[in-house]
Amino acid sequence: MRERVHVREVGPRDGIQMVKTILSSEQKLAWCRGMVAAGIVEIEATSFVPPKVIPQFADADEVARGAMAIKGCVPSALVPNLRGAERAFTFGLPQVNYVLSASEEHNLANVRRSTEESLQDFARIVAARDERNGRRIALGAGIATAFGCTISGAVSETRVVEIAVRLAEMGADEIIVADTVGYGDPGQVHRLMKAVIGAVGGKPVACHFHDTRGLGLANVTAALEAGVRAFDASLGGLGGCPFAPGATGNIDTEDTAFLLEQLGFDTGGDVEALVALRREIEGWLPNERFAGAIARAGLPKTYRAKISV
Ligand code: COA
Ligand code: ZN
Repeated sequence: MRERVHVREVGPRDGIQMVKTILSSEQKLAWCRGMVAAGIVEIEATSFVPPKVIPQFADADEVARGAMAIKGCVPSALVPNLRGAERAFTFGLPQVNYVLSASEEHNLANVRRSTEESLQDFARIVAARDERNGRRIALGAGIATAFGCTISGAVSETRVVEIAVRLAEMGADEIIVADTVGYGDPGQVHRLMKAVIGAVGGKPVACHFHDTRGLGLANVTAALEAGVRAFDASLGGLGGCPFAPGATGNIDTEDTAFLLEQLGFDTGGDVEALVALRREIEGWLPNERFAGAIARAGLPKTYRAKISV
């Protein structure tokens, strides 16, 4: 049995939050259905932010409801504050992902408050989650700009570890360490992920990489070596934070699944089906730049999933 590595598709959230073309709810749900059919079932399907802040997510309610109805789908949503979390909780999503930034300046630009205020808001979100009856909703807690910030520069590793510990102690079910602007390198990733994993007492830790400077997949291998077994990725390498200057796309889902399968891990993903879905999405977003080597070059004849060993 191959070891599982979780790949969470964040295309319908991170992937399109800077995209000017507003996709229809039906297209966003077709994206989710296509992912499930291609074997990647964990999907961050939308973002509960004010439509004034990101118009692309004016249909968050509809997309959350639709994603919940897709058989086999494990949908989550991003929330920037308690108001967003309360909206997300009403749909019974199995997971809700909160985000704050290790960089004080990025936190202010992104969610208009200090990092400490965001931490206190997370405590209220945990309390609101715990007050709810019925099925428990998992809370992911994302630490943006964990490897550096285009506004303030270097971010201290000690600070990232401290924030991770506080989020874990407050009740986060998963810690998501994010390289929002693609500043991380493999050495830094290995060191920081070892430190975070060692500090959070066995809580699952995921990585969220952007490939802005070409080190995205190298950072995946460094994180794997440090013990990370869950990664966010976006089909076609779309993505980027609208409130982080110079932000570009996430690591590409097809290439990430290819890398992980070649390394002997099981992602559940069918890379050819992922490429086919990405081509469909390229047709919806003709003005966007799509990345990805496998979509350009095709799978090699030696692709591990195709040969019996
Ligand atoms: N969903 C819908 N409406 C919301 C909301 C949410 N999650 N959060 C706040 N609002 C509404 C408030 O009810 C209020 O409405 P009103 O003007 O009709 O009274 C209005 O938005 C302003 O609320 P306030 O709490 O003052 O928010 P703010 O202006 O300080 O903005 C955030 C804070 C967090 C809502 C905003 O900065 C944000 O959405 N940031 C997210 C950025 C993002 O998505 N980045 C990319 C992902 S990393
Ligand atoms: Zn991101």
